[in-house]
Amino acid sequence: MKFYVCPICGNGIITTENNPVTCCGQKLNGQEIKDAEGKHRLFVKEEGEKITLTSEHGMTKEHHLNFIAYGKDNQYVVIKLDKETPVNVTLSKIEGGELYFGCNQHGVWKNN
Ligand SMILES: [Fe+2]
Repeated sequence: MKFYVCPICGNGIITTENNPVTCCGQKLNGQEIKDAEGKHRLFVKEEGEKITLTSEHGMTKEHHLNFIAYGKDNQYVVIKLDKETPVNVTLSKIEGGELYFGCNQHGVWKNN
């Protein structure tokens, strides 16, 4: 699975194939996924079979995290985040699960 954020409109896009992806008239293929740093990071609290995700990233209309994708291989859970609402998401823990998230201004990040 591949994750993209349109640098123009901030749309979060998830694909299952490597075919060309466009949004707002721009090709999105080749976008790099960055390693989480600074405010672009999810804090993970594990409690039994659950994980709770929070972030210090701002959630203003203009600049916010817009999705979280959590999973591995060919199965991911995708959460659309709400503008102006702090990130606070509880999910079932997936052994070896990887966390990706999108920022409408700064693209796709991978938690480490
Ligand atoms: Fe950002």
